[in-house]
Amino acid sequence: MGDQAITKLLRDSCPTVSVGILTANLLSLGTELDLLERTGIKVVHIDVMDGCFCPMMTVGPPFIKALKTPLLKDAHLMIADPVEKVAEYAAAGADIITIHPEACGHPHRVLQQMRSLTNANDPARGIVRGAALNPGTPLETLDPLLDELEFILLLAVNPGWGGQKFIPSTFRRITQAQQMIADSGRETLLGVDGGITRANIAEVAKTGVDLIVTGSAVFDGKAVEENARFMMAAVKL
Ligand code: DX5
Ligand code: ZN
Repeated sequence: MGDQAITKLLRDSCPTVSVGILTANLLSLGTELDLLERTGIKVVHIDVMDGCFCPMMTVGPPFIKALKTPLLKDAHLMIADPVEKVAEYAAAGADIITIHPEACGHPHRVLQQMRSLTNANDPARGIVRGAALNPGTPLETLDPLLDELEFILLLAVNPGWGGQKFIPSTFRRITQAQQMIADSGRETLLGVDGGITRANIAEVAKTGVDLIVTGSAVFDGKAVEENARFMMAAVKL
């Protein structure tokens, strides 16, 4: 629930940036994580794709477990039928676990079940339960789920790849989601994921979202540290 220590911890850092790690130099992941920590980044985003819900296959629980870092681990599960799998992500040390209702036969049950997961980093913390929506999924899908989640993640690209272009109708969806959250009387966190660059992060941050995911624009193979600092500064403006 919203009173979990982890939700409070995350809320206290918001607005903030969650950096997508998959375009980092995976052969020097420890160094890349150290570098993020130095820039004040607090959350690392791990895109989990299974080749079924999403065309690409990426990483799973062993990868998340291997990330030795004090950063909060934000696991974005773009996988089919996560109901049997969420426990493994919690055991691997995920602090935020976000599922896609589009990928579940019973999204409400998955979220309900996630309520009892133990945070492997600190059992007293709990897990932030998230639901992510693809750009083509109506926001109303979330309405029956609102009592069972702490975090909504709006995808601004179709899931599958980093480096895609931000879909402009996301701005309208952000406003709608904010209205839906306000109407519910809850303090659900709202995030945006995909196509965030140096050029648009300030504009997205101005909408008042809590968490902005950015991957390839930070890990561009060039100025990683500078990019991370830029993104962090832009959301705090
Ligand atoms: C899309 C993923 C995003 C994406 C972020 O399937 O959920 O997290 O990889 O990467 P950029 O910032 O490159 O769009
Ligand atoms: Zn993602």
